[in-house]
Amino acid sequence: MSQGEDATAAGVRNTVTMTDNRTGQSWEMPVMTGSLGPDVVDVRRFYAETGMFTYDPGFTSTSACESSITFIDGDEGVLLHRGYPIEQLAEQSDFMEVCYLLLNGELPSAEEKSNFEKGITYHTMLHEQLSYFYRGFRRDAHPMAIMVGIVGALSAFYHDSTDISDPQQRLVASYRLIAKMPTIAAMAYKFSVGQPFVYPRNDLKYAENFLYMLFSVPAEDYKVSPVLARAMDRIFILHADHEQNASTSTVRISGSSAANPFACIAAGIASLWGPAHGGANEAVLRMLHEIGHKNRIPEFILRAKDKDDPFRLMGFGHRVYKNYDPRATVLRKSCHEVLDEMGVEDPLLELAMELERIALEDDYFVDRKLFPNVDFYSGIILSAMGIPTSMFTVLFSLARTVGWVAQWTEMIEDPSQKISRPRQLYTGPKKREYVPMAERG
Ligand code: CMC
Repeated sequence: MSQGEDATAAGVRNTVTMTDNRTGQSWEMPVMTGSLGPDVVDVRRFYAETGMFTYDPGFTSTSACESSITFIDGDEGVLLHRGYPIEQLAEQSDFMEVCYLLLNGELPSAEEKSNFEKGITYHTMLHEQLSYFYRGFRRDAHPMAIMVGIVGALSAFYHDSTDISDPQQRLVASYRLIAKMPTIAAMAYKFSVGQPFVYPRNDLKYAENFLYMLFSVPAEDYKVSPVLARAMDRIFILHADHEQNASTSTVRISGSSAANPFACIAAGIASLWGPAHGGANEAVLRMLHEIGHKNRIPEFILRAKDKDDPFRLMGFGHRVYKNYDPRATVLRKSCHEVLDEMGVEDPLLELAMELERIALEDDYFVDRKLFPNVDFYSGIILSAMGIPTSMFTVLFSLARTVGWVAQWTEMIEDPSQKISRPRQLYTGPKKREYVPMAERG
C-alpha cells in the first residue's frame, strides 16, 4: 500500500494506493484526517471496487464511525472529553457538568448547568410498576442481570420517548436513562439484601442521592458523607465515556437498526458485564482476595505469563492504552485519599500496590506494555466505601450511560449513518446436496 496526494477541484486529496500483487491491478482509496489521532483509510468503496472485503476481527485497525466526543491517545496515556483532559475534569468538574459536556459538546454556563440538573432530577423516579419486575428475580440474581432486564423493560413503560426520529423524544429518553440509572441500580442492591427500596431525593446531588438510595433505611436518619459523595462523583466522571469500546460499539450497532434507546442501552450493559470489559473491576477484587498475601504474588505473575493457563492479571492491559491508563492514575491517588479520610487501612490496597510494582518491573508486562487500567483501583475504593463486589460493574454501567447516550445520539444524527452489517471470511463447507438420513454413512 503506498501513499500519495492527488490535486482535485476540492483541493488536495490524500489517497493510498492498494495493489493486488496477484494481478498487478491498483486502486486508490481516500484518506480521511481527523483533528487528532491517526489518519483513516476510507474503505467504504473497497468491496464495490475490488470485489474483496477487509478482514479485521476485534476491529483492531478499524474506525467504525466519525465522532467528536472522546479522544484517546493510547501511547501517551491521554483521554480527552470534547478536548478537555480527564485529569482536569476529575479534579475541577463534577459528574453533571461532564454529562452536559458529553451530550452538548461545550461546558455549560451556570444557568445551563442548573437547568440541566433540574431536567435530570425531574426524571429520577421509576414507574412504580417496575418494582414488581425486581420481585420476579431470584434473590441471589447478579445485579447486572437485573440491570439488563430492568433497563430493557423501560422501553415497555416510556412509550413517549421511543420514537428515535423525534429529537425531543431522543432528549427525553437520554435524560430518563441518566436520571433513572442510580434509582434502578440502588433498587437492584436493595433487592439483593432484602431491604425496602428507597425513593430518590431530588434535593440531593446526583452521586449523593445514589449513595442515599443505596445505604439509607426507613428506620433511621442517614447522612451521606461528603467525602464519599465526592469520591463517588469522581468515579462516575472517570467512567463516563471511553470512545468506541465494546459496550459503546454494542450500543451503536444495536441503535443502527433504529432500535429504541432503552433497548440499546440494555445491550450495552450486557456487553459491559464481561470480565474483559467492565466486569474486570469485580474480577480484580476476587483476584486480590485469591492472592491473599504478598508472598503469593510471584506465583500469580507466573500463572499470568503461562500461555497454557487461562489466568490473566485482572486490571492490567488495555486494547488502546499502551501506557498508564490516565483514569487509573487519578483513581490511584483518590484511593489513598478515601482510605486516609475514612481511617481504613486496607491490606488489599497494599497488596495491589505491591502487585503493580512487581508487574511493572517484569519483562513480560513491560514488553507487552501492560499497565494497570481503571479497573485496577476502582474496586479497592468501592469496597472501602462499603459497596459489595457484585455492584462494581453496575456502578460502571450507571456512569457509562451518559457516554452511551451521547454516542447513540451522535450516531442517529450522523447523515452517513447506516445499519451496521459486517461481512465475513467464510471458511465452512461449499454448497452440497442434502443427504436423507437413511443414506448417511
Ligand atoms: N495478563 C497477562 N497477559 C496479558 C494480559 C493480562 N491482563 N493482558 C494482555 N496480556 C497479554 C496477552 O496474552 C498477549 O500476549 P502475547 O502477545 O504473548 O500473546 C498480549 O498481552 C496482548 O494481549 P491481547 O489479548 O492481544 O490484547 P487485547 O487488546 O485483545 O486485550 C484486554 C485487552 C483488556 C482484554 C486484556 O489486556 C485483558 O484481558 N486484561 C485483563 C482484563 C481487564 O483488566 N479488562 C479491563 C479493561 S479496561 C476497562 C474496560 O475496558 O472496561
